Amino acid sequence: MEDLTSVDASLMQKEVLEGLSKPQRQLPSKYFYDEKGSDLFEQITRLDEYYLTDCEKEILQANINEIAERIGSDVMLIELGSGSSYKTRFLLEELSALSTYIPVDISEEFLLKTVNQLRMEYPKISIIPVFADYTSHFELPVAEGSSQKQVIFFPGSTIGNFDPDEVQTFLNNIAGITADNSEMLVGVDLKKDPKVLEAAYNDKQGITAQFNKNILVHINRVLDADFDIEKFSHKAFYNEHAGRIEMHLILSQKQTVTVGDQRIAFEKGESIHTENSYKYSLEEFEEVVADWYSVEKVWTDEKDYFSLQYLKKK
Ligand code: TRP
Repeated sequence: MEDLTSVDASLMQKEVLEGLSKPQRQLPSKYFYDEKGSDLFEQITRLDEYYLTDCEKEILQANINEIAERIGSDVMLIELGSGSSYKTRFLLEELSALSTYIPVDISEEFLLKTVNQLRMEYPKISIIPVFADYTSHFELPVAEGSSQKQVIFFPGSTIGNFDPDEVQTFLNNIAGITADNSEMLVGVDLKKDPKVLEAAYNDKQGITAQFNKNILVHINRVLDADFDIEKFSHKAFYNEHAGRIEMHLILSQKQTVTVGDQRIAFEKGESIHTENSYKYSLEEFEEVVADWYSVEKVWTDEKDYFSLQYLKKK
């Protein structure tokens, strides 16, 4: 099958083998997202238990005028991990004077499809896709008018998927490639009752389980590996101490897997850690960004489950 994400297979092999050789085996979560993975994730965002998307939409809708005002006009809006740009449409509708929209995504095929569509829908906005992994260094196109303010849009609490050290590297990178007056609109999931959190990552229909296992399907296909997917089960729980949801794949039987030229022996009951989703208090998040950004405004939903935050570069 054609690989629609155009992943760099040799980099993937290196990163997969590195992760699997750690005492707590792990896999880089970006490999969830082949075409099937992106589709499963879209399905997750529509699940009843997965409150994040609904809350974020509610906040955007309830405060759209104020948000649009803060963003302003003659702006370059840069969306990180744009995917289908579903939430962005909502913003694009309101930002009448938006000059430039720059979707940044790792999935080239997905990105180009979306861009073609958006160009037809918003002919006045200049749309420049950037195909990049925003967790490592990447370049932004130079603004046409030097007056254009850069605003980063980073929704979905994707920032919560970074570990504490990764979050610092990420903010340092973004602050480094944007101008002094740049700003950021970021979605941040908040600490709450662990039951609500755990339900969101253990949906009844098993879509999140399928999504979690898809990382192995993806690796099998691209690296010609032989993970026996049936023998893995999905586990997601709230780690109170670390303040994060952890996703794991647990092996029900021992298994030896071949990846590239290596054979890896797994014991029964072993886990592969695939993802973290950190939950912040407002104070914690303010501290996380403090070296680069000041928090100008926080909007939350009715239940205070989720926040949209407006940051300004210091
Ligand atoms: N950032 C979102 C979250 O942490 C989306 C996400 C990333 C996600 N990886 C995921 C959701 C894995 C479910 C499972 O919730």
